[in-house]
Amino acid sequence: MLPARTVWKGKEMATTVGMIGGTGPAGRALAARLAASGAEVLLGSRSAARGEEVAAEVRGRWPDRSLTLSGASNDEAARAGIVVLATPFDAAAETVAALADALAGRVVVSMVNALSRVGGELHALVPALGSVAATVQSVLPRSEVTAAFQHLPAKHLAALDRELRADVLVCASTARAADATGALVESVPGLRAVHAGSLASAGPVEALTAVLVNVNIRYRSHVAVRLEGLRAEGA
Ligand SMILES: NC(=O)c1ccc[n+]([C@@H]2O[C@H](COP(=O)([O-])OP(=O)(O)OC[C@H]3O[C@@H](n4cnc5c(N)ncnc54)[C@H](OP(=O)(O)O)[C@@H]3O)[C@@H](O)[C@H]2O)c1
Repeated sequence: MLPARTVWKGKEMATTVGMIGGTGPAGRALAARLAASGAEVLLGSRSAARGEEVAAEVRGRWPDRSLTLSGASNDEAARAGIVVLATPFDAAAETVAALADALAGRVVVSMVNALSRVGGELHALVPALGSVAATVQSVLPRSEVTAAFQHLPAKHLAALDRELRADVLVCASTARAADATGALVESVPGLRAVHAGSLASAGPVEALTAVLVNVNIRYRSHVAVRLEGLRAEGA
């Protein structure tokens, strides 16, 4: 197991990243991208054996890259420097509530979207607290929750030979969590972190995913979010 360390040097990223629910398309793709960008990633699962099986698949797909990616239980993943949640929306709160002790004091990044397929399109669902991220924060009072990465299609993230070029909107419960998440985002070449407010803004950010997927279905495309006119911080 990797050490449970948290590395906050200014806005440097935590060096160990845990993925809860990391065996799905989204989790394994982000895990591969982060590992390719220099992070040590623990790919978590309800079954550590399954986590290692999927981690081995990912390493095997990119044999020349020496990806620092290994399988783990969700509980082990929850003890990493920074933790990403990548379960289905209806499993998110229950999953993290069971890991609340391990996640205490940590930044938890939710990439979860609440979506429902209706006919040929996706609809955004609105959780009672406004967003999945806010729901996750409500069951993790000792953690700092952020929302990010919802708009990046797993297929793009997973194609390590393809350069990314996208903005990642970051909503955060605290300034420290915003900085840690922003640093994690920007550790990946081609991604720019844009601080988009508190978790009050996470609902619209999560819901936008349905719009983007519908655009992709309509135009057979893979669109990315990029904001025009943003001034560099401090400019
Ligand atoms: N797919 C994309 O392109 C994409 C992009 C951005 C964000 N997202 C969001 O990222 C999240 C994950 O997406 P995905 O497509 O990877 O999802 P997924 O394959 O349906 O689920 C991811 C993993 O969650 C675990 N899981 C499934 N049901 C669970 C339950 N009832 N309780 C606890 N864990 C459970 C499973 O891992 P184990 O069985 O190994 O425990 C599964 O491999 C979603 O919320 C999605 O909206 C997806």
